[in-house]
Formats: sequence, C-alpha cells, structure tokens
Amino acid sequence: MTESMERAGVSRRSFLGGVGVTAGGLMVASGPVLWQQAAKADTVTAEQVHLTFGDEPTREVIVSWVTPTAVSNPTVTVGTPAGGFGRVIAAQTRTYTDSNNGTVTITQHARVDGLHPDTDYVYQIVSDGETQVSSAFRTAPEGRVPFRFTSVGDIACGDTAYSKASLNAAATAASIEQFDPVVHLVNGDLSYANSNQMFQPQVWEEYFDNTQLSAANRPWMPTLGNHENEPGNGPQGYLSYQTRYTLPRNHSADFEGNWYKFQVGSVLFVMLDNNDVCYQVDTGTYVSTGDNQILTGYSGGEQLEWLDRTLRQASTDRSVDWIVAVMHQPAMSTSDADGSDLGIRENWMPLFYKYGVDFVLAGHDHDYERSYVVKGTDSGTVLRPHVVSADLHRVDSDKGLVHLVIGTGGTKGHDDVYQAGAAGEPTETINVSGTETETEDAPWSAVTDPDTTHPWGLGVFDVDPGRFPGDKTTMTFTYYHTPAATASSPYPAPVEFDSFTATRTRSDGFGFRQRDSK
Ligand SMILES: [Fe+2]
Repeated sequence: MTESMERAGVSRRSFLGGVGVTAGGLMVASGPVLWQQAAKADTVTAEQVHLTFGDEPTREVIVSWVTPTAVSNPTVTVGTPAGGFGRVIAAQTRTYTDSNNGTVTITQHARVDGLHPDTDYVYQIVSDGETQVSSAFRTAPEGRVPFRFTSVGDIACGDTAYSKASLNAAATAASIEQFDPVVHLVNGDLSYANSNQMFQPQVWEEYFDNTQLSAANRPWMPTLGNHENEPGNGPQGYLSYQTRYTLPRNHSADFEGNWYKFQVGSVLFVMLDNNDVCYQVDTGTYVSTGDNQILTGYSGGEQLEWLDRTLRQASTDRSVDWIVAVMHQPAMSTSDADGSDLGIRENWMPLFYKYGVDFVLAGHDHDYERSYVVKGTDSGTVLRPHVVSADLHRVDSDKGLVHLVIGTGGTKGHDDVYQAGAAGEPTETINVSGTETETEDAPWSAVTDPDTTHPWGLGVFDVDPGRFPGDKTTMTFTYYHTPAATASSPYPAPVEFDSFTATRTRSDGFGFRQRDSK
C-alpha cells in the first residue's frame, strides 16, 4: 500500500480483500497495485460480480455474477479470513433474453445468510468445480456505530466504443473503493445500456466488469433511472436490471425490486423509482426508432402507498435516527440540462417533510448541487421548497431536509451549467407535464459546481451516532471531485470540493414521540 493510497483513505481491508478477476479491459498495467489483482483465470466463467445487501444487511449479502454459458452447480463458498471456506451456498440461476438483439444473459445469485454483524468474510465463486473469483466483504454494523457510505449516479461503462461511456467510469469505481464505504448508493442511470439499442447486454457487461473492482468487495445498492428502461424487456423495460440484481424485498406482487429499503446502523435508506412519478418523458431512449416508453404512474399508487407506510413506521422507530431517500430524477435542480420535476414534488416531497427525511440523493443531471435546509412549500403551483435555514456549514436536520444532486459518476456527457436570472439569482426549469416546463426562482439552491474542468465526483457520508440516548448525532458530507482520468493517470486522487456537517436529535431519547411532531 502506497503512502498516497493511505492518504486517500484506502483501508488495509480493501487492500487485502480485492477481487481476483476483472474482465473489463480497464485495469491498465500502470495502475496502482490495489487494482492489479490476481491474474485472470484461463477459463473465466464468472464475471460481472457484484454484491448487494439482503433484507437484513447485518446478516445477509447476495453475491451475483454472470456466466457466459450455462454451468452446473454454481456455488459460492464462504468463510472467515481465519477459518477458511466453511460453507457452500448454491446459487439461483436467472436468465433473460434481450428483445433487441436476442442475447441470452445467464445470471447467478447466491444468498449468503446467517452472517454476523460488522464481520469480515471471504468468498469464492465456484462454477463447474473451478474457482473463478476470490474476494471478501464485510457485513453491516448493528446499532448506533460510526460508519461511512458513498453515493453517486450516472456512471456508465468504461468502453468508449459505446454511447455515454467514458474512462472516468473506471476512475469513479476506483474512487469509491478507496473510500472504503460500508455500502455505495447508485443514484440511477447505471450502464446506459438503452443508449446503445442493439448492444444492451454488452453494455451491461462492460458496466459490471468495470464496477466489479469495488462492487465485488462491498454492496452497491442501486435505484432505477430512465436509462434502466429498455422498451421490450419486461413491462417497465426493467427486465435486465431485475434479472441482474437481487435486492431487499418490498413484498409487491408485481414490482419486486423496483423500490426497497434497508437499514445500516441508525440510517434507513429508502430506494425509490422516480420513473413512476416524474413528468419528464425520456424522449432519448430509442431515438432511432422512437420506441420510447412513458412509465409515469405505472405502479398505480402502490409505490406511494409503500413509501407512506415505510416512512410512517420509521418515524416512530427508535432505532432510526436518519432517513436517506435515494432516487434518480431530481425534485430540485437548477441545472440547464433536465431540471426539477413537479411529479416528485407532488408525490414524494410531502411525505419527506411530514416524516422528517433528512437527505434526498438524486442524479440525472450530470452535475453537483446542494440545497439549503428546506421543509414544506412556498405558495405556487410548482411547490417551491421552503428554505428554513440558509446556514451553509451547520445544517440542522431536525428542521428539514437537504436535497443533493450527485449525477457525476463518469458518464461522458456532463452538464455543469446552472440557470440564473438577470441579477444572477438562481432559477430552475421545472417539468410540469410530459411536454411543458416552467421557469421559476430557486432561492433554495445553496451550492453548485460550474467547474467544467472537474465534471466528475462522488459524495461521501460519515455518520457519528452520538454518545447517549437523546444525544445529537451527526452526518458529515463531503463532495469530492474525481479529476479526469487519462491513460497515464487512470485513477486520479479525489479532491474535496464541498463539505458540511448535519446534526439531528437521536430517536432514542426520553420523550421522543414522532419525528413529524417536532
Ligand atoms: Fe437520467
């Protein structure tokens, strides 16, 4: 481990626990030692490896991968670093056929359960009796303990032969790994497969092979973006996403995997599908054929009902201090690209205010923006969020929420242009229907990042749980630039751009009632 890697936060565990195989072609020979893992096996039958948490992140991790051909008896062997590989877990095979080019994708999913919290495990993927990949992960901690998570969306793949791809997708995955988070949140728009209409499975392959250097070591928990919609692949075009991921159950009869929740420490993560509520239509999905699909309202209110129930329960749960909502299209964005969406303000935001959601994380616009603390709406048809505090550095989360756009994951297209009025005041374009927009003042906009020389980055959150029941707990957020990757510097060190510390009252104190009663 080099000194610079230690400065950048590379942990001993991630250094030792790296994944053994990468097939993405992006691990150039001049890269740091961390990313040059064991030599690729002669016969690779396990690729696109990625982890997700199960329903209980302290006890359950799912290992998912793809095999180029059908294999007999795909398994994961699991154990502890000191104890060896003691358990053999059979994987479930799920396949789908891409409607555009007929490619059959064979995915494997091994549900590793019965684990202990905050514990290191080693695992091997074994197919047809041959060990294909060796790596390690750590389960989520239990209770009120410090931990770190990261967030960024709009990553794309690193093979620049494909639309929306860039070398910076690899740099982003490496940066995430360097920060050693317990979990990484993907704010939608993963591979941009649907921007490559005739090569969708191939783009997914490149995406997962690229992210494997981190996602095989720690769960990457995704949300659906407009680019996960592949018309013809399932009712919402999500068949590829749904087949490739095994996610915490939402117990929906028709929409399993489309939205879900999980808790790490005292933080509840609520992962939403904004395609269900946003007005903006993704007219760029299949430009050549015009075969676009409007998903607005597809769940018939089921997701909204689930969200209401989930947040209501969380609001009286004394183990939940923080609620983080993760989504794709933003409710609040002054970006010149896509802007804000009234559908999210109408559907989700009233519940966020009511039940005391602390952070809303989005992507879609390929830039960075932070709001002031907001709660409720000013008057007006566009439901402008009401600013309750304009303190940039001391954020009181008991008063309201902070909305963050972190759509800087590496995709080739980046925005970094923000709207402003004649006097320089921030303004926003709001999608108010599938075809109409309105432009309004946006006094809630606190920080933007117009620096086009650093169009990529990621968000890092550090949770301090406080010391005693009813104490204050803090969440320190830092947005880092990831400078542009080059052939000679494929993994440039992240550089801090924006930071603040949010404070909230713990939910286990005497007299705690409901978050919304404050
Ligand atoms: Fe998007």
